Amino acid sequence: MRFQDQVVIVTGAAKGIGRGCIEVFLREGAYASAWDRDAAALAKLQDDLSPRYSDRLQTLLVDVASSQQIGDAVEQVVARFGKLNCLVNNAGIHPPDTPIESMSPEEAMRVMQINFASTYACSYHALRHLRTTRGTIVNISSMTAVLGQRNSTAYAASKGAQVSFTKSLALETAADGVRVNAILPSNVDTPLMREWAATLADPEAALERIAKLQPLGRMASPQEIGKVCLFLATDDSSFLTGQAIEADGGAALDY
Ligand SMILES: NC(=O)c1ccc[n+]([C@@H]2O[C@H](COP(=O)([O-])OP(=O)(O)OC[C@H]3O[C@@H](n4cnc5c(N)ncnc54)[C@H](O)[C@@H]3O)[C@@H](O)[C@H]2O)c1
Repeated sequence: MRFQDQVVIVTGAAKGIGRGCIEVFLREGAYASAWDRDAAALAKLQDDLSPRYSDRLQTLLVDVASSQQIGDAVEQVVARFGKLNCLVNNAGIHPPDTPIESMSPEEAMRVMQINFASTYACSYHALRHLRTTRGTIVNISSMTAVLGQRNSTAYAASKGAQVSFTKSLALETAADGVRVNAILPSNVDTPLMREWAATLADPEAALERIAKLQPLGRMASPQEIGKVCLFLATDDSSFLTGQAIEADGGAALDY
């Protein structure tokens, strides 16, 4: 019970890595608020988990592109659970494999909005409460932030922005004991990964190739990333702030 009676918000929590985080935190005794813009997937999360965790799980329909919705949702979390100990900025999108000439600046800005500006906005609204609890922020970035990714300039740039933001905010909040870290996964087996692979020439072959990019020979599971989040949210990581943790199965070693 490493997060007993502590409160966590996870954005983009209905599927993939976000759902993995919710499962890990609930197992460790947390009160968890799962935010997503996908109402059907949120309802499924609620159905799947409420038999075990009904009193500790809150699901909120939130589009993290809206600062107004984020602000309202943060207050709903604190109204229900009384405090906030950790914010996991996970919601994100990955556009199809697209060369720069085929992605308009407006489309690129939408990627920045959902992947980066939401990280800023959620942190902006949550910090007041996190300063009170000496809490933590964990930003789900990507190895593409440091390695780049062909035909994904806007995506990789949005993930790089999350890393710069992490380091700068860590400096700003350290005096209040608020730690801010980022996780940079390489490849995680999620709906987003499979949808993105489906835009490539031979999706099955692509998934096999992607698995082999990790010297460990496979992608991560969403729960494995959730466990890194839990580590960064607890005192086990009490001397870490402003770090970009490469959770990549060794992929960068063989780059
Ligand atoms: N899957 C990977 O291999 C991988 C690797 C590196 C980084 N990441 C990052 O991890 C995060 C999660 O990715 P995933 O693979 O689990 O994706 P996913 O698509 O499987 O799940 C993402 C969830 O976020 C929600 N979401 C998207 N936009 C939203 C919005 N505007 N408001 C609220 N909810 C929104 C979706 O509805 C979905 O439930 C993303 O930020 C992604 O960039 C993923």
